[in-house]
Amino acid sequence: MNGTETLLILEVPAPILKAKAERVAAVDDGVRDLMERMLAAMYAAPGIGLAAPQVGVGRRVVVVDLAKEDEPPAPIRLVNPEVVWRSDEESIGEEGCLSLPGQYADVRRPESVRVAYLDEHGSPREIAAGGLLARCLQHEIDHLDGILFTDHLSALKRNMILRKLAKRRRDRD
Ligand code: NI
Repeated sequence: MNGTETLLILEVPAPILKAKAERVAAVDDGVRDLMERMLAAMYAAPGIGLAAPQVGVGRRVVVVDLAKEDEPPAPIRLVNPEVVWRSDEESIGEEGCLSLPGQYADVRRPESVRVAYLDEHGSPREIAAGGLLARCLQHEIDHLDGILFTDHLSALKRNMILRKLAKRRRDRD
């Protein structure tokens, strides 16, 4: 992987989006470089979260930034993130995904989570998150297990979105 090349964000039905990503054994310069390039691709999209499988890399790496346009960037870099606690309380919120462009749906998830991970220096950390950050972290960690937000929907809604995406691809080609 060349250090300056812009990462391409893969879209459904790229097979890697349905695969389980591998744990990172050591947080080294290669992982740090990957995270910086994922952030660049995410900001360019633009999006608020990106998981390594979405750029064709089957490793457990996620980047997130919920800062608004008029706020300074606030990137979070997560290696081997894991939900270690989830609230019984759930919430429903609209989700989209850079790998399913133009598609949105309401998804039910735990309202709050605690996520354990390694930071970009390999130090263990934990985030307690609620609201949008909790939703975003759960969505991105799902990607590491080959799960898309459409997998949380009824078959009817999921197939509707997949049909719309297929049509979009046909119209584009
Ligand atoms: Ni996504």
